[in-house]
Amino acid sequence: MFPERFSNLPAYAFPRLRALLDPHPAGGPVRHMTIGEPKHPFPAWISDILSREMSGFGQYPPNEGTPELRAAITGWLNRRYGVTLDPDTQVMALNGTREGLYNACMALVPEAKNGAKPAILMPNPFYQVYMIGAISVQAEPVFVPATRETGYLPDYMSLPAELLNRVAAAYICSPANPQGAVASRAYWTDLIGLAETYDFQVFADECYSEIYRGEPPVGALDVAAEMGAHPDRVVVFHSLSKRSNLPGLRSGFVAGGAESIQRIRQLRAYSGAPLPLPLQRVAEAVWTDEAHVQENRALYREKYAVADEIFAGINSYQGPEAGFFLWLPVEDGEEAALKAWTETGVRVLPGAYLSRDTAQGNPGKGYIRVAMVAPLDEMREGLIALRDCIYR
Ligand SMILES: Cc1ncc(COP(=O)(O)O)c(C=O)c1O
Repeated sequence: MFPERFSNLPAYAFPRLRALLDPHPAGGPVRHMTIGEPKHPFPAWISDILSREMSGFGQYPPNEGTPELRAAITGWLNRRYGVTLDPDTQVMALNGTREGLYNACMALVPEAKNGAKPAILMPNPFYQVYMIGAISVQAEPVFVPATRETGYLPDYMSLPAELLNRVAAAYICSPANPQGAVASRAYWTDLIGLAETYDFQVFADECYSEIYRGEPPVGALDVAAEMGAHPDRVVVFHSLSKRSNLPGLRSGFVAGGAESIQRIRQLRAYSGAPLPLPLQRVAEAVWTDEAHVQENRALYREKYAVADEIFAGINSYQGPEAGFFLWLPVEDGEEAALKAWTETGVRVLPGAYLSRDTAQGNPGKGYIRVAMVAPLDEMREGLIALRDCIYR
C-alpha cells in the first residue's frame, strides 16, 4: 500500500539526536549548538515593508516571483558574481532552497541516462534533501566521500567512467555544510568540465555563499559562463536564510539555463507553494541591500577568530573557510556528543547523522558538527566547555 522507496530511510538527524541525548540529564547549563538556525538580527526595516504590503495576503502570489523580485535577484547575481541573467527566463523565486533542491530532481532528472538507471552524485556527509530528491525520482544516490583527504569536497573527478555515464546530476554544496570548505575556481572548472564531458547537470547549493572569512567564494554560474559551458549545465540555489538571518521567511531562488528554469516553473505551477506576495516584496528589498550582509559577516568573522583561539593547540582542529559550522574531529561522534551533553550540557550533532555508511566506512563518524549561531559570549562558553570536555 505504501511506497517501498522511502521505507529504509534512517530517522532524520534531530530525532536521532534527541533519542541519543534526552534519556540523560544535562551535565551543565544547556547550550544548543546543533541546528544551523541563524540567530543574528535580521534587518529591522523589513517590518515596515511587511505592514505596507499586508493587502497582498489577499492575493494568490505569482508562482515564478514578481518581476521586481526577479530583477532584484538578477541584480544581486550581477553585482556579486558579474553574471548577467535574464530575469524573465533564468531565475525563479523559491520557498527557501530546500524545496528547490528537491524539486530540481523532480523537474530535471530523466527517467534513464544512456539507457540505464540514472545516478545522482552527492557529497558524503551531505544536506539530507539531496538524497530524498534522488530517491523520489527513483535514481540511485551515490555518496562520494568529502573528507580531510579530499579537501572536504567530493572528488567526483576520480569516479569511474561506467558510473559517470549514468550520472544525471551532481549536487555540490559550496561553502559546504558541514565542513565549511569552499570550492575553488579550479574545482568548479574541473567539475563543470566533467559535467560537459558526461552530460550531466550540476546542482550548486550556494546558500552559505555570503558567510566567509577571506575572499568571497567563487560561484558556479560565474565559472560556467567563463568556460562557455552549456547554459543548462549549472543550476544554482541561493537563500535569504543564512545571508540575511531570515530562515523563517522561507525565501530563496534558483537560477540557471532557461530550459531548466522553465521546467522547474512548470512543475511548481502544478504543485508548488509560491512565496506569499508581501514576503516577495520583503525579499526584493533584502536582496537589494548589502549593508546588513556585511554586518552579519563581520559577526561571523569574530566567531571564527574566537573558535580559532579556543582550539589553538588542538592538532586536528581546522577552522572553517566559510559557513557557520565547526566540523571537529573526534574519535567517535556519538560518544563525543553524549559525553559533551552529560558532562557539560552542550548539545552538538554527531557527524554520522549527516552522512551515510559506504563500503569505505562512514566519513562523518569521527566528527561532531557545532553550530556557531548563538550570541558570541554564549558561543564562547559553549566552545570552551566542549574543548575542555573532549580534547583535554
Ligand atoms: C546546505 C544547505 N542547503 C540548503 C539549506 C536550506 O535552506 P533554506 O531552505 O532555508 O533556504 C540548508 C539549511 O540549513 C543547508 O544547510
